[in-house]
Amino acid sequence: MYSNAFCKVYNEFGWNYFPEAFAEQLLVWLEQNQVHVNTSLDLACGTGILCEILHEHGIESSGMDFSEGMIEIAKEHNPDIFYEVADMIQYRPDRHFDLVTCTGDALNHIMDLNDVEQIFQNVYGYLNDGGYFIFDILNEKEVPMEEPIDLDFSEEIKAQFIVTHDEEGAVNLKVTVYEQGKLQFEEVIREIVHDEKEVCRLLTKTGFQVLKCSNHLLENKGNYSKTWYVIAKK
Ligand SMILES: C[S@@+](CC[C@H](N)C(=O)[O-])C[C@H]1O[C@@H](n2cnc3c(N)ncnc32)[C@H](O)[C@@H]1O
Repeated sequence: MYSNAFCKVYNEFGWNYFPEAFAEQLLVWLEQNQVHVNTSLDLACGTGILCEILHEHGIESSGMDFSEGMIEIAKEHNPDIFYEVADMIQYRPDRHFDLVTCTGDALNHIMDLNDVEQIFQNVYGYLNDGGYFIFDILNEKEVPMEEPIDLDFSEEIKAQFIVTHDEEGAVNLKVTVYEQGKLQFEEVIREIVHDEKEVCRLLTKTGFQVLKCSNHLLENKGNYSKTWYVIAKK
């Protein structure tokens, strides 16, 4: 679970560009494939960006996330969207959806593949027949190691991200934020790189038909090489 402070960093300085880019491509994919979606659920929705964009496109979207700070921000962004705090490993809503999404490496936060399989079984249970489960995961070969990334948000505020791998095979993302040279905040996010073939095998075992598992969602766009996009159909 992310601390409330990290949720604010995520929202103010961080990574909202990713769900925005994902949403843009997802909407094109739905149109190209003539898939009509009335209802959607975003697992680990973070600050709710994807839910908001789908909502703006007439989809009755909802979201859930483990981190209270993320759900608070998501509700502030749009109080009309239904959000709840929950752990996707146990989450089994009694509503059904045409589309379930999970973006921004969220499934890489699930360290145990048995839990990933449990999530797939849950999703299969609350997807409508013919519904789609579309998500991304980190690409094993492309996670950069030991490369600090410095970001200057303003004259006063600077941040640094450092990605390291540990002996258990996890990827650790350490985020530090400095204001006027003084350390304001530090947090380590731990993720695991799952083998995409194993992930797809578990989807098939659950009953899904895997339509895509590649480093691009749209045929002519391979813009996030460190990401695999997976499209599974119930
Ligand atoms: C990198 S963020 C991605 C957020 C959002 N999907 C996006 O693309 O911006 C990962 C999110 O996964 C959430 N998360 C991690 N483990 C979770 C779990 N077991 N159940 C629900 N959410 C979880 C975190 O709280 C965090 O908001």
